[in-house]
This record gives sequence, C-alpha cells and structure tokens, in this order.
Amino acid sequence: MNSLTDYIHDLEKAELHLHLEGSVEAETIRELDGTLSLDQIRANTEYADFAGFLKAYVWVARKLDSPAAYALATRRLLENLEVQHVTYAEITLSAGVILWKEQNLEAIFRAVQQEARAFRRVKVAWIFDAIRQFGAEPAAKVFAASKEMKAEGVVAIGIGGDEARGPAPLFKKLYAEAREAGLRLTCHAGEVTDAASVWDALEIGAERIGHGIRSIDDEQLLDTLRERDIPLEVCPSSNVCTRAVADMTAHPLRRLWDAGVPIVLGSDDPALFHSTLAQEYELAGTRFGFSKEELARLAANSLRYAFR
Ligand code: ADE
Ligand code: ZN
Repeated sequence: MNSLTDYIHDLEKAELHLHLEGSVEAETIRELDGTLSLDQIRANTEYADFAGFLKAYVWVARKLDSPAAYALATRRLLENLEVQHVTYAEITLSAGVILWKEQNLEAIFRAVQQEARAFRRVKVAWIFDAIRQFGAEPAAKVFAASKEMKAEGVVAIGIGGDEARGPAPLFKKLYAEAREAGLRLTCHAGEVTDAASVWDALEIGAERIGHGIRSIDDEQLLDTLRERDIPLEVCPSSNVCTRAVADMTAHPLRRLWDAGVPIVLGSDDPALFHSTLAQEYELAGTRFGFSKEELARLAANSLRYAFR
C-alpha cells in the first residue's frame, strides 16, 4: 500500500451515499443464482448511459428475491465497509423498488437490520428511497413505511431514479409530512439534468443533495448551498460511469469545493461502478489535487453531515 492509500484507510469516515442494491458484486449475484455465469451477469450489468444504468440497477434488484437475499447483500457490503475503515454508513434501500416487486418490505428490513447489527465496527442507519418516475402515490407508500420503521433505524427518506421524469415538486407534500414525522430528507438532484432540479430539491426541504453536481452552473445556487450549509453527496466514479459527466477531467468536484460548498464523498453503487468509497477519496487526491488535509476535511464532513 502506498502512503496515500494508508492515510485514507486510517481516516475515520462515514459513507452517506450508498445504495444496497448497487453494492451487490457479481460474485454475490452468483451466490444468489448459481445458474448465472459471470459473463451473463456482466452482460446485464454493463451499460452505456444513465438510462442503461437504471436498467442494470433494476436487473440486480430483481436478483434480490427474498429477505435472505437482501441479508446476504448487506453482509457482503458491510464486510467491504469494514475493510475500508468506514465506521458509520447510511445505506439507502430502494424501498420503492421492493414495493414495486410486490415484496414484503417489513420482512426485508428486519432481515437487513438483523444482519447489520452483527457488524460491531460499522454503525448502520437506513434511508428509504422512492423512485421519482413512479410518481407520488408509490412514494407515499414508501414514506408511510419509513415512518412505521423509524424506531427500527430508518433515519431519512429520499427520491432517486430519473429526475427528468419525476420532478421534485410532485413530492413536496410528502416531504413535509416526512419531516413532521421526524425523518431527515435527502434527494438525488442535479445529477443528469440541471441546477433548476437542485433548486426544486431545496424547495421541498432537502437537507442534503445526492450528487447535485450541476449546481456548478449556477452561482446563486452555490451561494445558497454554502449559506444554508447544505452538502452535496458527490460520487465522481458514478458520474463518469453513468455519463453524467464526459470524463473525470470534466467533473466539477474541485470547483464545487473551491466555491466553498459543503461536500461529502460517496460511492453510490460501488459494484456497478467498480469503485469503493476509499477509491473516491483516492481519486480526490490523485485527480482533483486534494491535499491530505483536505481529504481529512472531506472525512470530517462525512461525520458532520450524517443524519444520526
Ligand atoms: N439509484 C441508484 N443510483 C442512482 C443514481 N446514481 N441516480 C439516481 N438514482 C439512483
Ligand atoms: Zn445514488
């Protein structure tokens, strides 16, 4: 290991933007379905753009066909987080997809919680995510379940999926109700559309923004994020893989940081992006010129902006 890798490993850090379904490695999929070859798995998890990525994500989610399968995914993920010295994780569960698959969300949540409790070195909290393009009615069911399971470890709600096909204002009332119930609010926005989508997320009360990279196009928005102390959960490898940005040189991470916007790093869907949280820190160091002191500030941010 080189010294930057060691340094990053040793930082105490939290993972705040991480989807359970996007963390399932090909080997784990094979554990779940022994009839699949690695080539078949690869063929279903390769993609050329954001729409293709969402299809791959759903394909993986479909492989999680029981509470036990979700529990196995959780175990493999937490083993990975332990190795990286991640001490706290807010794991997003695509509750919207689980309900769409007509599975028992409560049983699945019980199974993943039980699995997570066995890992003493990574504390886990859960974010239930609704799918933007499914609309408000399915989201209402996700957020109702989040309220019911809040005492068991659901700390926040979010919306993900296709921001172009499910504008945030659709969910305004639901976000207000979730806040009333004591849930924290995050929201994927400004990932593949524009800064206006981030303004919409702020308007419905989001306290953190998933990605939010298009904020770079709007100076007033950058000022607002800084003044309101709203962090962006930035996931550079994700953005390159989904073609949200053309390549790493076009990624605005450094410019967002230099603008003084609060930033936490996330891995988003590490299996689908062939990355890890530690690698995102490493990229920040090697490709975006973050000094060790700046990397330590990113890690401190991950603890500071946690919803615990
Ligand atoms: N769900 C999982 N990963 C996502 C992403 N990068 N954008 C939107 N929804 C997602
Ligand atoms: Zn995400």
